[in-house]
Formats: sequence, structure tokens, C-alpha cells
Amino acid sequence: MKTQVVIIGAGPAGLLLGQLLYRAGIDNIILERQSGDYVLGRIRAGVLEQVTMDLLRQAGVATRALEEGLPHDGIELLFKGARHRIDLHGLTGGKQVTVYGQTEVTRDLMAARAAEGLTTIYNAAPVSLHDFDTAKPTVRYQKDGATHEIACDFIAGCDGYHGISRASVPADAVHLYEKVYPFGWLGILADVPPVSRELIYANTARGFALCSMRSESRSRYYLQVASDQKVENWSDDAFWNELRHRLDPEACERLVTGPSLEKSIAPLRSFVAEPMRFGSLLLAGDAAHIVPPTGAKGLNLATADVGFLSRALEIHYREGSQSALDRYSELCLRRVWKAERFSWWFTSLMHRFPENGEFGQKIQEAELDYLVNSRAASTSLAENYVGLPVESF
Ligand code: FAD
Ligand code: DHB
Repeated sequence: MKTQVVIIGAGPAGLLLGQLLYRAGIDNIILERQSGDYVLGRIRAGVLEQVTMDLLRQAGVATRALEEGLPHDGIELLFKGARHRIDLHGLTGGKQVTVYGQTEVTRDLMAARAAEGLTTIYNAAPVSLHDFDTAKPTVRYQKDGATHEIACDFIAGCDGYHGISRASVPADAVHLYEKVYPFGWLGILADVPPVSRELIYANTARGFALCSMRSESRSRYYLQVASDQKVENWSDDAFWNELRHRLDPEACERLVTGPSLEKSIAPLRSFVAEPMRFGSLLLAGDAAHIVPPTGAKGLNLATADVGFLSRALEIHYREGSQSALDRYSELCLRRVWKAERFSWWFTSLMHRFPENGEFGQKIQEAELDYLVNSRAASTSLAENYVGLPVESF
């Protein structure tokens, strides 16, 4: 088999890249180790920046996100038992975010790919990458007991944090930066109306909580839990009880509970691999960087990478120029590190760090008080939350 770009991973980064490349006339094949249903079963991100919406539009897959996505103009910060609104729209000259689940983004991208008859090979495992230090790389994979090989010009490593792409790079060619947090997020999805029209980010002495949603009838809630907690130990009732302890009285009153459709624990991590290009192999999304979810940046960073990558490949094929590909890593990482900083800061501000004791809690509350009462500080939060501007080549 032969194609121009082999994309490893059919998560949002890989699928969006496939669609953008197809629209630019660049052939591609996607290899995914799981089944399509498995990929759709993972409940993850919910907040899309304008940059992501623009890329979905460019890829021709924004119809449902525009129709069914919920535009949000603000978020609420809850601390010391009271809620304070951050006016994202007013503080950023009219920007918004859209609440629309990653599952739905993935579903829309899968449907578009199927409608165009483009090749995605699911259940391809294991996958191996070869000769990406040359201009003639190949990718091998096994499926149904047979080994296959694809010759290509470029390999796009969109296979997430645990993927094979970054792991295939020699250890001395990549620098890894990592911070692991001593807690995770326990998330629940339930068909109950959201407790509030906007997202609530709560700092409490019992730990962080987040009230989010997927639609007007489906809610997504998260609780900070210690790293050693197991999802089996959290009944639905235990979750709702603990959430009540972390909300203000009005929210408690309005909270509607119900059986969970999904419940899982996600560890929190900050991670960056530098650089993001190794000859003919280019990394994008979680394969290259992870942020703790507090700032809602992971999916948005992944889509921004893919926007840069599709543009760089387009310039390469159309103009025969390497210059954009040469700048790919630098351009992505400049924006990635700013999102890393924001996500680390917002995580540090909102979560309970037992080792920091009561003093740490008081310092957080003082910073939050400053944040909601200072236009300068609120503006800084707002412009990072809605997404920083994207540079061009
Ligand atoms: P993935 O989604 O991880 O996709 C990688 C794909 O590659 C997977 O399908 C995997 O099966 C496949 N793969 C792996 N290894 C191989 C292999 N060897 N061969 C072939 N295929 C392989 N981000 C936001 O922007 N906003 C949010 O609100 C937000 N909330 C989050 C909440 C939670 C609880 C979590 C866990 C994450 C959240 N994120 C959020 C982060 C976001 O979900 C990720 O950043 C996003 O999924 C990254 O997409 P990706 O395509 O790079 O990687
Ligand atoms: C969601 C996840 C986040 O990490 C976040 O900051 C906001 C919302 C969500 O899953 O809805």
C-alpha cells in the first residue's frame, strides 16, 4: 500500500487531520488500534474554543456542533461558599466557548470520513514506524493475523499519550518535561438537567469540583479525588453526596441527581515532548503534550496542532517548500507552553493540595478574591480560557 500521509490514531487529532488533508487534496490513511465503538465510548472533553470550531468548519464537519453546541459567554468560580461570574464575552471583546462533547466531535468526523469513503483501519495492532529519519518512511501493522506495510511521505503521530509514535523516537532525540499531580478527577455523566446555565469551577476545603454539561438534559460533573481512589469504591450516591458538600446552598437546592451513564477517574498530569518533529514523523495532540483538564485545553491544543500540521503539509505539497514543516514544532510549542502554564496555574489555584495545609487554602482564597475583583486578573483568565490567538506560517 502507498499513501502520502499515514496518520496513527483515530482520536479527534487524527480524524480532524485526515479530514483537513483530504480537503487539501492530500491522500491519507488512518490506523487505529481500537475499534470505532471503543473510541466513541471514551467520555472526555466538553469545551471547544473558537479556534477548534473554525477548524471543524474548515474540515466541513461543523454543522451539528453549530446547531447543537451550547455557546457559553461566562463561567462561575465558587469559593468560600459563594459564586462569582467571569464574563468571558465581555472581557475578551466578544469571544465565547462552545460546549459540545468530544464524543460528538469524533462521531461527526467519523461520519464525514465514512461518507467520503476514506480509509480508516480499526483494530490495527500492533503498529510500528520505520525509517522516519529518511524521506521514505513506512508503517507496518497487523490486522486479522496478517502483516501489512504502507509506504508514505510523512507519518503523523496522533496516537495520544500512550501511543507508539513518540515511543519510537530514540530517547536522546527528545526532551520530556513532566509534572504529575497527587490527585485525579472522578467524572460522572448523567441524564439530568445541569445545575446551572454556566460551568461552575469550585474551590473547597474538601477539594475541587466542576459542574459541566453536554446538553440541556445531560450533565457532566467532576470531583477531585486522591490518586489512590478506585472508581469501584464510588457508588452514584457517594458521588452525589460528596458533590453536594462542595456546592453552595442554591446549587445544592437545584442539583438533580440520577443514575450514572458513565463514571471514570482520570489522573492529572502536565507533560511536553520537545521537539514535535523528527524527520518525516510529526507528533500532534496528546502524543506530544498533556495538560491537566482544569483549563479545558487538551482537545483544543490537539486541534490547533493539527491546524498547523495540515497547513504545513499543504504548503509542502503545493509549493514544494519545507519552510513551514521546519517551523511546525516551534510554532506549536510556543502556544502549547502557554496552555501548559495556564492549565498548571488554574489547577494549582482550584485544587486542594493537602501538603500546603490551611495556609495554602487561605492563599488560594486570597488569589481568587483578587481574581474576581480585578478586571486585569479576570481578563487574563478569560483570554486564556477562550483560547489564545493562533499564529500563522
Ligand atoms: P486521543 O484522544 O488520546 O486519541 C489517540 C488515539 O490513538 C486513540 O484513539 C488511541 O486508541 C489511538 N492509539 C493509541 N496508541 C495507538 C497505537 N499504538 N496504534 C494505533 N492507534 C493508537 N480537553 C479540552 O480541550 N477540553 C476539555 O474540556 C477537556 N476535558 C477533559 C476531561 C477529561 C476527564 C479528560 C481525560 C480529558 C479532557 N480533555 C479536555 C483532554 C482531551 O480529551 C484530549 O486532549 C484529547 O482526547 C486529545 O486528542 P488526541 O486525538 O490527541 O488523543
Ligand atoms: C469539561 C472538562 C473540563 O476539563 C473542563 O475544564 C470543562 C468541562 C467537560 O468534560 O465538560
